[in-house]
Amino acid sequence: MKISIGCDHIVTEMKDHLVGYLKDKGYEVIDNGTYDKERTHYPIYGKKTAEKVVTGEADLGITICGTGVGISASANKVKGIRAALVGDVETARYAKSHLNANVLAMGGRILGIGVIEEAIDTFLETEYEETEESKKLIEQIDSISMNDESLNDEHYFDEFIEKWNNGGYPTT
Ligand code: RB5
Repeated sequence: MKISIGCDHIVTEMKDHLVGYLKDKGYEVIDNGTYDKERTHYPIYGKKTAEKVVTGEADLGITICGTGVGISASANKVKGIRAALVGDVETARYAKSHLNANVLAMGGRILGIGVIEEAIDTFLETEYEETEESKKLIEQIDSISMNDESLNDEHYFDEFIEKWNNGGYPTT
């Protein structure tokens, strides 16, 4: 199974640890970055990680930022993504078994590494249990359509980043 993973600068060390953790368990990993602690922007890595899933390059995605909120919201904007922001193992299980979530999102500054590893294990190992109801609900979610013009556009955030670098946004 191939896993697409991404994070922002707040939790790079944790992401690097999880890349090793996943590889040790035999998963193939696409590490979308970020790769250091330089201030960056979670929408970039939510989008990159999610794109690998919807294009079929990866089977599932894992995203982490400080709270998990920003990066999960970003991943969810990619058409076909159902990113679940979870804070416990049971929710990770439900996300896969009932929602067939294809991205697991967590807050690296909120949760301990033990919970994060266990949530990942559970998410990856749990099977989706399709029912008529879950199928219809997922169809409804997926029909809340967004345009996909931005898919795999490496320069999609250029204008945003330029404005940021030029002081166009608060730095906190
Ligand atoms: C830092 O940008 C921080 O806001 C981010 O990691 C995350 O917590 C957002 O949800």
